[in-house]
Parts: sequence; structure tokens; C-alpha cells
Amino acid sequence: MTKVSVVGSISMDLVTSTKRVPQAGETVFGENFAMVPGGKGANQAVAFARLAPRDVNMIGAVGNDAFGETILKNFKENAVLFDDVGTVPQTTGIAQITLFDDDNRIIIIPGANNEVLPDYLENFWEKIKDSQLVVLQNEIPHETNLAVAKFCKENAIKVLYNPAPARKTDLEMIEFVDYITPNEHECKELFPNEFLEEILAKYANRLIVTLGSEGVIFHDGNEVQKIPAIKAKVVDTTGAGDTFNGAFAFGLTENLSIADSIQLAVVASHLSIHKFGAQGGIPSLAEVEDKLKELNLNFYK
Ligand code: RIB
Ligand code: NA
Repeated sequence: MTKVSVVGSISMDLVTSTKRVPQAGETVFGENFAMVPGGKGANQAVAFARLAPRDVNMIGAVGNDAFGETILKNFKENAVLFDDVGTVPQTTGIAQITLFDDDNRIIIIPGANNEVLPDYLENFWEKIKDSQLVVLQNEIPHETNLAVAKFCKENAIKVLYNPAPARKTDLEMIEFVDYITPNEHECKELFPNEFLEEILAKYANRLIVTLGSEGVIFHDGNEVQKIPAIKAKVVDTTGAGDTFNGAFAFGLTENLSIADSIQLAVVASHLSIHKFGAQGGIPSLAEVEDKLKELNLNFYK
């Protein structure tokens, strides 16, 4: 049995660092360029695998090109199972990322990720059924997410849904998933007319809202709980949310409580932003354990 299946996006991140973002019609000289593996699905799978090598199965698609090859090699190096990553006649998905001022701007071209349609999963349903937890995001077609979520509901498999980037159709997913992890902006897109406190209470122990440097909040059935963020010197926040989700998934499969799973995920994503690249700073389990010790948090091991 695979602990976790991630059904999601796989991309190559084309990252440009600049001190200033050009205005329309303007050209500026940047600082640095790099190509690094990314995509929210892949990042979350890698985040899980750094904590639990070979316990996560990636389901998705890359193109028959150099980016695809590099990405498959990267899965191998990171102990993500990738038998179910197909090569399709489309270009590998890319994300064009501009890094400036501790922040980023991203343009995505899904390419092969758009081929991950419900029919594409034909040979993978058994694997999905065999998982303890399935993880979804919003960089493959919505109809696929919905089909997977419904299938999991019917088969009593838990689903962690990270509605990122935000889509109009997100709300349709809610009744079929167990955990939803939007950031503040995505949460507003999901529930435009509702107060955060009320919506947290309505989805107690299911809706987990990440607030960046403000920490993470959820409702435990009695009251709103806030797990504070840890102060950090930011190098690159790209993928911090994905690290959070991968590590949160790990906590859940270790049977930690929601609060403890969040705490572990906060530590993992805190460590991740000290290094460049969406996957560059994702910590190992040893690194997370050391940090937990340093913070006198003793819930894990
Ligand atoms: O969440 C970060 C990811 O989002 C990047 O790796 C990039 O691929 C974008 O899709
Ligand atoms: Na990083």
C-alpha cells in the first residue's frame, strides 16, 4: 500500500531574479536565471518524500522533451515513485517565475498537465484506491480533481485538497474532500461573502488557512486555533505552501492530530524558504526533528 498518491501538476520552473520588475514596454537587466523542477503536485510529492522516502506515488504527465527527462530524474533522486508519470505528446508544463523583493510572480503554461484528464487515470484508479491519502491541487483540469475526489469519497479514502492557484470551481470540491488548505487569498475566492471565523467553524477540523508570516488557523470544533509562523530570513518563498501541504500530509499519515500535523508543516515550510527553488529548501525528516527539538516541541517521536 502506498501511503500517499499525489494526482497533480509537474512543471519546470524558469526562474528569473531581478531587483526591479519591468514596466510595460520596458527592458531591465536581471540578476540571475535558473531552471529547477517545480509544479505544485511535484513539489508536494517531493516534500512528502523528503520526510518519508518511497512512500509517495506521483500521478501526472510530462512532455517528451528535455524538461520531462530532467524531471523524471529528479523524482528518482528524491525517492518519489513515478511509474504513473506518463510522457504525453505535449510540452512539459512550465512556470515562468520572477523573483524580486522576497516575493514572486508566476505565469504557468500547463502543457502536459492539461492532458491529465479523467480518462488518463484509467490505469491508475487501483493505485489511488490503495492509498491512505490522496493529495490534489489546482494545476490539472478541474474535472480530473472532481473525478478523483468523488472516487475517493466512494472508497473512503481521505483527500487533502490544496486549492491553489484559486479557481472558480473550487467550491464544488468541498463535500468530497477531507482537508482543504487555501491561503488567505484563495480562501476569499472560495468564500467571497463570508467571515473567516464563521467559515472556519463551519468546516471545523477540515478547513486549514495558511496566512504566510501570520501562521496557520483552523477551528478545532470548540474554537479557532492559531499556529504561529516562525520568523525567518527569506531567500525564496516559492514552494513554501507546497512544503506545508506535503508535510501536513505526512503528519496525517503518521496519525498526528491536525494541530500537530500543522505544527510539523509550519516547521517544514519555515525551513524551506531559506534556500532557492521550490524544492531546494524542502527539509529532510532529520532537519524537521532538529528544528522541533530546538523549539521544544515534543509531540513527534
Ligand atoms: O507552488 C509553487 C509552484 O507553483 C512552482 O513550483 C511553480 O511551478 C508554480 O506552479
Ligand atoms: Na525554497
